[in-house]
Amino acid sequence: MKMYLGVDYYPEHWDKDMIDEDLDRIKEMGSNIIRIGEFAWHMMEIREGEFDFSFFDMVIEKAKSKNIKVMFGTPTATFPAWLAKKEPSILSEDELGNKRVFGGRRQYCFNSEVYKDYAKKIVEKLINHYKEEEQIISWQIDNEFGHEGSDMCYCNQCHKEFQKFLKNKYEEIENLNKTYGTIFWGQTYNHFDEIPIPKPTITVHNPSFKLDWARFRSHSINSFAKLQINIVNELKGKNQTVTHNLPGGFFDKAYDQNVLAEKLDFISYDNYPVWGGLKEPIEAAEIALNHDYVRGLKNKNYWIVEELMGAQGHDVIGYLPRPNQAKMWAYQAIAHGCENMLFFRWRGMTRGAEQFCYGIIDSDNKEKRKYEEVKEFMKDIKNHEKIINSKIESDIGVLYDFDNTWSWKGQNQSIKFNFTNEILRLYRPFYNLNTNIDVIDIKNDFEKYKVLALPVMQIIDENLQKRLEEFADNGGTIIFSFRAGIKDKNNNLYFGLENPGLISELAGIRIDESESLVEDIEIVAKDNKEKYKANVWRDIISPNTAEVLYKYNDKFYDDKAAITRNKYGKGQVYYIGTGVSEDVLDELYRDIIKDQAIEYIDSPKGLELYMRKYKNKKYLFINNHTDKEIEFENDMIKAYESKIKSI
Ligand code: GLA
Ligand code: ZN
Repeated sequence: MKMYLGVDYYPEHWDKDMIDEDLDRIKEMGSNIIRIGEFAWHMMEIREGEFDFSFFDMVIEKAKSKNIKVMFGTPTATFPAWLAKKEPSILSEDELGNKRVFGGRRQYCFNSEVYKDYAKKIVEKLINHYKEEEQIISWQIDNEFGHEGSDMCYCNQCHKEFQKFLKNKYEEIENLNKTYGTIFWGQTYNHFDEIPIPKPTITVHNPSFKLDWARFRSHSINSFAKLQINIVNELKGKNQTVTHNLPGGFFDKAYDQNVLAEKLDFISYDNYPVWGGLKEPIEAAEIALNHDYVRGLKNKNYWIVEELMGAQGHDVIGYLPRPNQAKMWAYQAIAHGCENMLFFRWRGMTRGAEQFCYGIIDSDNKEKRKYEEVKEFMKDIKNHEKIINSKIESDIGVLYDFDNTWSWKGQNQSIKFNFTNEILRLYRPFYNLNTNIDVIDIKNDFEKYKVLALPVMQIIDENLQKRLEEFADNGGTIIFSFRAGIKDKNNNLYFGLENPGLISELAGIRIDESESLVEDIEIVAKDNKEKYKANVWRDIISPNTAEVLYKYNDKFYDDKAAITRNKYGKGQVYYIGTGVSEDVLDELYRDIIKDQAIEYIDSPKGLELYMRKYKNKKYLFINNHTDKEIEFENDMIKAYESKIKSI
């Protein structure tokens, strides 16, 4: 399959007489595709019902004459001012009851029937207009659902829809009262229409209520998305595909992207390792985690439709990627399963809210360092298409469950808790050993893996318990971290069960008590008495069948376990009962990887190696994430240099 390489291009931002030259320059750089159209609703419907696609007809003709393909974005992330004025009910509302105003983007309510009607109309008109257009190979629906706080709305429409959602789920109000435990604080409801939405209150809302609200938000966003996906799938040309561009911060978004992914032909992702006022990019392991998460949504390679090249920020500009650093991030993305890539954006816009979201070309319109880096990347990466299209197979699965994520989001339990950090805590040591890692939802089959990690999986029901017991019985290795198994699917604590609940036998332990940590504590290795720091949380463990690997090193609990390992069937189960540091886990994981005969490579810190296989040959993507030269196997890898080598 031909590799698509290109840029995000907004021709409507520039004089028409610049378009030909822009397209020539974009082509000359090495592109064969542009993404256009997202955010341009007003250009397509200048007044209600007056549809006009002539501008984009012209752009597409020019692209065709230069043999540049097109990905077209539906424009529903930015509705026209005339619509906001005529129908203010489409505007979403924050938790304090403030209606969001026209001026930013994505300020619509996902449950607004009025908005859905207008969105349907523009999308139907657009797809019908271009369904025969072979230059358009793909449709991107909307833009980054849920990003920049747009996933939450507390308007009256959402309130009414939430009450309907609950009635559908519980049928009788008594079922809800029983599940929620509304007897507590006298919150028993007589009717569904008495149920609020979780706007601010005095102290906190009911945990089951908060989890249902999160499930409702996810249902709202995914329903709006499916409305568009179904229209595009019904109308599009046979050679056209449909996708959506996901932003990062997946676990901070109020919707399960696995549901959205079901109906997409492929996932698209916007890769921004740094944005806004950050001092430096997020760590390399987190960039990698994001890629592995995206690949895991459909368990197949994906597109990047916005690859960062310039410093990014709205009102506060971000960190400036050093020479070759953004190019190296592009190679890292390809290593982890990105098959087609568009860079954000051809030229930074000199007017409007994203003057400081720099592109390849700056306001001087000259071809400089960033342009040369993209050109070099495009020229080189085309030589590796076969490897890039190969499927990535991993022996390791890092599992997540959005109900569990939202349960933590509703009750952090520790002021030091951050969900993504806890996923990273169990992901990072595998990353450090340069293994291939899948990051997938627990609903996926996981028996093919040799090792499973379940970061802070506090919600574990009987179904998951049975699946995990079978996995370990058959020889698999499982790694739990703290608070595993304490809750049921209704976000309630199990009654009458010792923690860790349904996995007590699997882990071979009993948790006597637990504590959220504000400051570091110390643990000590059972064998060599080495001491290490731990934070965020601790489960104070008594082993049953498990062996103790690390104990707590403090006055009251120096006879209690911190980390245990239990033989279960042909497999083994680790319980990491506290927020341990990377060095403890690096050692533990080295044993696990060797015990399970999983391929890994040692490399100096900061040098990321990613193995790919094609026709029984192995290739290594080498990415230096540091500003220093690093030696690897008698080869000097320069600062932010990337290499692809057959091994
Ligand atoms: C996001 C959006 C783009 C643009 C960039 C700027 O990824 O998809 O429209 O706002 O951020 O960094
Ligand atoms: Zn709403």
